[in-house]
Amino acid sequence: METTHLSVVDAEGNAVSVTTTLNGGYGSKVVVGGAGFLLNNEMDDFSVKPGAPNMYGLLGTEANAIVPGKRMLSSMTPTIVLRNGKPYLVTGTPGGSTIITSLFQTLVNDIVFGLDAKATVNAPKFHHQWWPDEVRIEKEFPDSTRIALERMGYTVKTGAPWSRTELLRIADGRIEAVGDWRGDDSVAGE
Ligand code: DON
Repeated sequence: METTHLSVVDAEGNAVSVTTTLNGGYGSKVVVGGAGFLLNNEMDDFSVKPGAPNMYGLLGTEANAIVPGKRMLSSMTPTIVLRNGKPYLVTGTPGGSTIITSLFQTLVNDIVFGLDAKATVNAPKFHHQWWPDEVRIEKEFPDSTRIALERMGYTVKTGAPWSRTELLRIADGRIEAVGDWRGDDSVAGE
């Protein structure tokens, strides 16, 4: 629909992490005749002018201004984590500005908190992107943490679930694959 992520590992241990985007839902809503694919609306990832948010609420500066030949700023973060020089996590997600915080939490859930692969992906998420100045949380987010954040002065808003993380975890001679419960994601293997 807008952004798609694929995480792949083969029998030899080669890994690929790909995120590709139309940006908004169905991009520019124009299909290339005879070719069967949609054109994106990636121009929105540029900053139109300082102080004007894009469709993900991101505020840009001159550094992300529209200039011929230049590429727009992207949040896409296809990720491969190596352990002893070999792929350990292969992961990524759609979600516009939430991609960066979703991936960060995915990595922390595994590497720091040692959650299993399913919990790593499915744990409730939070998101902050500097502006608007609010912490967005999913409704499963622990109440105790929400209350603590509010006491610290944060504005906390509960939102519909976002991001759809795909994770492959390669450890102990096994590959675990998790498709996020939030979307229509799937896993397959032999
Ligand atoms: O490159 C970017 O950061 C955006 N075009 C991504 C948009 C996106 O993930 C939309 N999906 N939900």
